[in-house]
Amino acid sequence: MTDLYIGLMSGTSVDCIDAVLAEFSEVDGELRCHTRAALGHPISNEMREAILALCAPGPSELDRAGQLDRRLGEEFAAATLAVLQKAGVKPSAVKAIGSHGQTVRHRPPGSVSTPFSLQLGDPNTIAALTGITTVADFRRRDMALGGQGAPLMPAFHNAVFRTGRDRAVVNIGGMANITELAADGQVRGYDTGPGNALLDYWVKLHLGQPYDADGAWAASGAPHPTLLNRLMGDPFFAAPAPKSTGREAFNPSWLERASAGLEVPPADVQATLAEVTAASIANGVREFARGGELLVCGGGARNNDLMERLRRRLPTWSVTATNEYGIDADWVEGAGFAWLARQTMLGLHGNCPAVTGADKETVLGGIYPA
Ligand SMILES: Nc1ncnc2c1ncn2[C@@H]1O[C@H](COP(=O)(O)OP(=O)(O)OP(=O)(O)O)[C@@H](O)[C@H]1O
Ligand SMILES: [Mg+2]
Repeated sequence: MTDLYIGLMSGTSVDCIDAVLAEFSEVDGELRCHTRAALGHPISNEMREAILALCAPGPSELDRAGQLDRRLGEEFAAATLAVLQKAGVKPSAVKAIGSHGQTVRHRPPGSVSTPFSLQLGDPNTIAALTGITTVADFRRRDMALGGQGAPLMPAFHNAVFRTGRDRAVVNIGGMANITELAADGQVRGYDTGPGNALLDYWVKLHLGQPYDADGAWAASGAPHPTLLNRLMGDPFFAAPAPKSTGREAFNPSWLERASAGLEVPPADVQATLAEVTAASIANGVREFARGGELLVCGGGARNNDLMERLRRRLPTWSVTATNEYGIDADWVEGAGFAWLARQTMLGLHGNCPAVTGADKETVLGGIYPA
C-alpha cells in the first residue's frame, strides 16, 4: 500500500520553493520514503524582497503580511501543480499537501516573554487552487505545549534514517539543525546556529552572487582567528538544547558587531563565516558521539568547502550527503513536510518533545480540506 503526499518548503534562505512528491509505503512495519519528483519553484526578486522586508520589524506590517500570505499561497499552489505535471500525476492521486509556509518571524521560548512563530502562505488558497487537502501551521501546536516549535525535521530523520548505529543528520539551510539518532534509539536535535544565510549575504554584498558556488570564495580565504573567536563566543552556541534560532539572531548586524575594529579582507570573512557554520555543527556532533555517520542535507551539502571543513573537524566521522542514503540532499526537508502531513492525516504525532521541549507528543498542524 503506497500513499502520495506533497511537501512544500520555503526556507530562511528564500532561494526557491521546494516542492516534493513523496511516496510512502510500509514494508514489514518499516516506513519507506521515495521521492517520485521534486523541483525548486522560482521566487521572483520582488517577492523575495517583500519576504525579507517582513523578516524585520517595519511599518504597515499587517497589510504587507496579509497580502504576502495570499500571494505565497498562490505560489505554493503553482509549485504543487508544477511538480504534479513533472511527475505526470493527477491532483486526485495525492492524499494531502504538507506546507511549511514562509517563516517571517520566529521568537522561540527564551527570546521573548510570549514566544511565537509566524509562517505565511495561506493554506486555504493552496487547497482551493490545487483541489488537494492541505495541512499547514505545523509549529504552533508544539509551541502551545511549551516547545520551541523547532526543529521539526528530527522526527522525520528518525523515521527514515535510523539504523542500529550512532548516526547524526545535519540540515544546512539558511540556519542549520542537527538530529542525533543514537544506537540505543534515543533522538535528540536542535538548531546549531547559522547555516548558509550569512554566507549568502556576504557573497552577495561583495561579489553580487546569490551564493558562494561550491564555497570557492570561502576556500580562497583564511578564517580570521579574532573574528572567529568573537562569533563563536555568542552565548547561543554554548546554550543547552532545546534551542532554535533564525535571522532574528544571526544576521548582518551580528556580523557587524563582531567585526568592530577589525580589518578583515572580504574573502577571509567568508572563510570565517564558513568556519562558524562548520564548527558549530561539528561541536554538536562531537558532543553526541565519538564517531559514526554524519548525513548532510540542505543546500549546504552542495558546498564542497563546507563539507571539507566538516570532514577536517570530524576525522572519526564519515561525512556524506543524504543522496547516498536514498533521499537527495535538496529534497529531504520537502519530503519531511510531506511526512508531517501524513502523520497529521493519520492522527499520529509529528513532534519530538525531546527535541522541541514540548510537554508531550502531539498531532501537528491544521487540516484545510480540498
Ligand atoms: N552549489 C552550491 N554551492 C554552495 N552553496 C549552495 C549551492 N547550492 C545551494 N547552496 C546554498 O544552499 C542554500 C539553500 O539551501 P536550502 O534550500 O537548504 O535552505 P533553506 O531554503 O533556507 O532551507 P531551511 O528551511 O533549511 O533553512 C542557498 O542559499 C546556498 O547558500
Ligand atoms: Mg531552500
